[in-house]
Amino acid sequence: MTVVVSNRGPVRFEEDPGGTFRARPGAGGLASSLGPLLCSGAAGPDGAWVAAALSDGDRAAVRAGAVDVPGIRLRLLDLDAQTYRLAYDVVSNGTLWFLHHGLFDLVRRPRFDRRWREAWTGYEAVNRAFADAASDLAGDGAVVLVQDLHLALVPGLLREQRPDLRLAFFTHTSFCGPNSIRVLPTDAATALCTSMAAAPCGFHAARWARAYEASAREVLGAGAPLAPTFVAPLGPDPEALAALVDADTTRAAAAELDELVGDRALLLRVDRIEPSKNVVRGFLAYDLLLEERPHWRERVVFVARLNASRESLAEYQAYRLEVEQAAARVNDRWATPDWRPVVLDTRDDFPRTVAALGRYDALLVNPIKDGLNLVAKEGPILNRRDGVLCLSRDAGAWDELGSAALEVHPFDLEQAAGALDAALAMPADERATRATRLRELAGRRTPRDWYEDQLRHAA
Ligand code: G6P
Repeated sequence: MTVVVSNRGPVRFEEDPGGTFRARPGAGGLASSLGPLLCSGAAGPDGAWVAAALSDGDRAAVRAGAVDVPGIRLRLLDLDAQTYRLAYDVVSNGTLWFLHHGLFDLVRRPRFDRRWREAWTGYEAVNRAFADAASDLAGDGAVVLVQDLHLALVPGLLREQRPDLRLAFFTHTSFCGPNSIRVLPTDAATALCTSMAAAPCGFHAARWARAYEASAREVLGAGAPLAPTFVAPLGPDPEALAALVDADTTRAAAAELDELVGDRALLLRVDRIEPSKNVVRGFLAYDLLLEERPHWRERVVFVARLNASRESLAEYQAYRLEVEQAAARVNDRWATPDWRPVVLDTRDDFPRTVAALGRYDALLVNPIKDGLNLVAKEGPILNRRDGVLCLSRDAGAWDELGSAALEVHPFDLEQAAGALDAALAMPADERATRATRLRELAGRRTPRDWYEDQLRHAA
């Protein structure tokens, strides 16, 4: 039997006015890929999933005893709201996410003060609650797969409580290196690395595994025992994507998009509104393209499908404004009476995303750093126009897709504008060759492959 432990669960619950609960798919790559797999029974007859109750609907469902999904025993933890907020906002997202993606402006941030200490205590408490729940659900000798930076203390806690279990810890983000890990308070860095060292640690790309090993040696000492690392990239679920392509909602969205784009080229991006996704520099590179290569004016529409994310963090709110302003600047500068160069679409609507991924001529994925980036794989699988992928070399997916993508340097705007130009101007035969190859590379691994790799490495 297998127990999966992750911050975000496979579904979020919404309460109808009549008091019944409806399960909606969870957001983010982890939940959306693992959800359908485990809800089809992949974790075995007693399989279980521990996640946090994130919304009011989730909490109400827990209290009403209505947390029920097919194929798996789901336990949502109704944690103290303030403790959870400190752990999620301040430590997981405000500290560890920033650290691993290289987002700190070190002159000003981070500041480890009394408030941070309180948050760290919250992070420890949340990790303890997850470890206790996993331990409670796991039968003798079960496999426990712990997911992501929110729960980095869980492997160590479980190892102590339950030496019989087989564990794996999978990090979905990039991992900082041995110099950056020294930014964390020494005791926190030691606690995180000690816990991770207790279980085989998986990553989407070899670079992040190496960065973790070097960081752990820096913190724990060169000779410290580290459980082995493994590399297991996630891939999209081709059947789930195919089903969405055929949905009426997707067809309707595709027709709307056809109307919007007309015979112009479609440049697309699909991201959470997230500093590491480098959305602003994407608009700056497009602006440069329009400035320096005037023949593209009125010939391209840049659709940015951006979903709100982590809005309780001031950094994310500020970034959202920067994104909106950067898009507006491009439109103010270049729009004509019948051409809007950038269309910012923040509707949370996956069929629209599927339709757009099917339709793009060029897809921009230019993160500063990204553990994998599932969109870079979903795009080529869904696309029907031999669209070109412009991919940051600092996305984990670069390792798998780089040979058929166009490289984007996340900080070099001239280079990025050149990549967009090359993508939009690429001759049909080269587009077709690259698209065929990309589709093959992007479809090599499914959620099941990724899940089974974790089972195989658990120890
Ligand atoms: C990344 C993380 C996931 C997280 C997702 C969405 O992909 O690795 O663990 O679920 O972002 O972020 P959120 O904070 O909304 O869960």
